[in-house]
Amino acid sequence: MPRKLAAGNWKMNGLANSLDELRMLAERHANVGVDVLICPPATLISACAHLPVRIGGQDCHAHASGANTGDLSAEMLKDAGASAVITGHSERRADHGETNADVAAKSTAAYRAGLQAIICIGETLDQREAGTTLDIIDGQLAGSVPDMATATNTVIAYEPVWAIGTGKVPTIAQIADVHAHIRTRLAARFDDGGEFTLLYGGSVKGSNAAEIFAVQNVNGALVGGASLKADDFSPIITALENA
Ligand code: 13P
Repeated sequence: MPRKLAAGNWKMNGLANSLDELRMLAERHANVGVDVLICPPATLISACAHLPVRIGGQDCHAHASGANTGDLSAEMLKDAGASAVITGHSERRADHGETNADVAAKSTAAYRAGLQAIICIGETLDQREAGTTLDIIDGQLAGSVPDMATATNTVIAYEPVWAIGTGKVPTIAQIADVHAHIRTRLAARFDDGGEFTLLYGGSVKGSNAAEIFAVQNVNGALVGGASLKADDFSPIITALENA
């Protein structure tokens, strides 16, 4: 069975005083039956590292070190206390021009450093309306997921771009379709493709988490806005535990 994972992506939110939220969350959910991962801004990783939840980065450079002002390597995230890093988030793809090849290189860097890569894929609204969602997913899986991916070093997060931060959530049938498709493709390419953790992301909240987690091949969530406050993220973790 794939491992269940409740992952929070804080994006560019969080100052030192946000650590209280994380402490509260960690106290409530230490030793639960699912993995809990928070990806705070990199400035907070080392301050979070002692808490009993997993900590991750939101992006990394493909190289281990070098003349890359402002960038952080996977090794640096690991050194600060991270055990995972998000790669290929749609905000990086759209705002920083990251290609599938960039995402594959960053994911390979994650493996090199001993981090789990949370590789994000998902279609835009135009692509959804043009009926090309599964083609886009195929291209992103083929181009962004390295051949050395395994169910241990990689998690795939399906995040339809139009559902991120909009309050719009795909129908249960749409989520089920895409997740089944991803599972089929992974199973065809990797010996342990049936074991990869597959996350859904995009406007997940306490109020919709249970029905999303009931979908086959949904093994958790990548949560943005609702991961910032312990009171909002807690019910999502509980829904995953009960799924
Ligand atoms: P929201 O949960 O705020 O829609 O964000 C989803 C996301 O982008 C997580 O990476």
